[in-house]
Amino acid sequence: MIILAIETSCDDTGIAILEIRNSKLEILSDIVSSQVKLHKKYGGVYPFLAKREHQKNLPMVLKKAVDRAKNPKIDFLAVTVGPGLEPCLWTGINFALALAKKINLPLVPVNHVEAHILANFINERPKSFPAVCLVVSGGHTQLILMKNVGKYKILGETRDDAAGECFDKTARILGLVYPGGPEIAKEAAKHDRQKDKYHIELPRPMIYQKNYDFSFSGLKTAVLYDFKSRGAKTRKSKEYIREMCSEIQQTAIDVLIRKTLKAAKDFRVKAVILGGGVAANKELREQLKRKIGKEMPHTIYYMPDRKYCTDNGLMTAVAAYYHGTEKTKNWKKIEASANLKIGEYL
Ligand code: KG4
Ligand code: ZN
Repeated sequence: MIILAIETSCDDTGIAILEIRNSKLEILSDIVSSQVKLHKKYGGVYPFLAKREHQKNLPMVLKKAVDRAKNPKIDFLAVTVGPGLEPCLWTGINFALALAKKINLPLVPVNHVEAHILANFINERPKSFPAVCLVVSGGHTQLILMKNVGKYKILGETRDDAAGECFDKTARILGLVYPGGPEIAKEAAKHDRQKDKYHIELPRPMIYQKNYDFSFSGLKTAVLYDFKSRGAKTRKSKEYIREMCSEIQQTAIDVLIRKTLKAAKDFRVKAVILGGGVAANKELREQLKRKIGKEMPHTIYYMPDRKYCTDNGLMTAVAAYYHGTEKTKNWKKIEASANLKIGEYL
């Protein structure tokens, strides 16, 4: 079986072609065209700009994906239908619909959050349930109980900003470029926390509350206040920026890890699964691994290959395969759903 999948939920245009032979997944191609340069200029993602870029990029990305896969005989098409930025989702959906019509193939709708989770299962099938999934990206911060592929319950989520969004916004305050997550990680890596000079202590909102929700907007305000309270020289100093980045990163990690471990223990899970753009963060990956190793040594820990953390077409194809290509909807009815919840409708 060969699946061609299209992903345009935010600012990356991704198309991948995946072959499944004897239950083994083989990546025939995986092309991602990033709009980072454009969004760097504006300091963030503007949905209508992103939509225009997707429209421009899709034909070229498709050609590259098909060429790289050496003109495969495709059986199914798949497309992200939500959650995401509505104008962007529609661009991918309309492109997929036109293609489905042209080559008369079934089209599978894919949930983007589920795709982030299933990005972990390219080399092996998901099999350890129940599992708790931490999905952290620019648009989402959710803890999800997974009883099987397709069976999910959202345990908690952010009440305001997503973790990635918080990195993007605080980076902007500090004068770092978009996307802020990798920039904050880069600066934080240059700081030794034993040698703090400014002793910045950011709040860790909701960390001790007995729920699985998060809140990151207060963090952004705290960074802004601290930044404004410093003199012009400090604000520009490398030491201050590095120390602040280190504290921002650690604050988010502390809250994410504590709540994930709480959910994992409360539901006696067999596995913890990490996913989403922020899952590319090395410190989060390492610290979560260490904590699970120490406190829940019998729990399996999955984290996606770093290159499959941020948005890509491959995870969309993988999700279409595991979730079930037989769930193909009548493609005339496929539409974008900006706030689609995992487990809903697909
Ligand atoms: O999953 P994704 O590509 O898009 C959404 O579905 O939102 O995630 C993008 C987010 C951005 O906020 C970006 O700053 C963050 O992931 N990100 C990171 C890293 N790489 C990307 N955050 C922290 N550390 C990273 N290395
Ligand atoms: Zn994403």
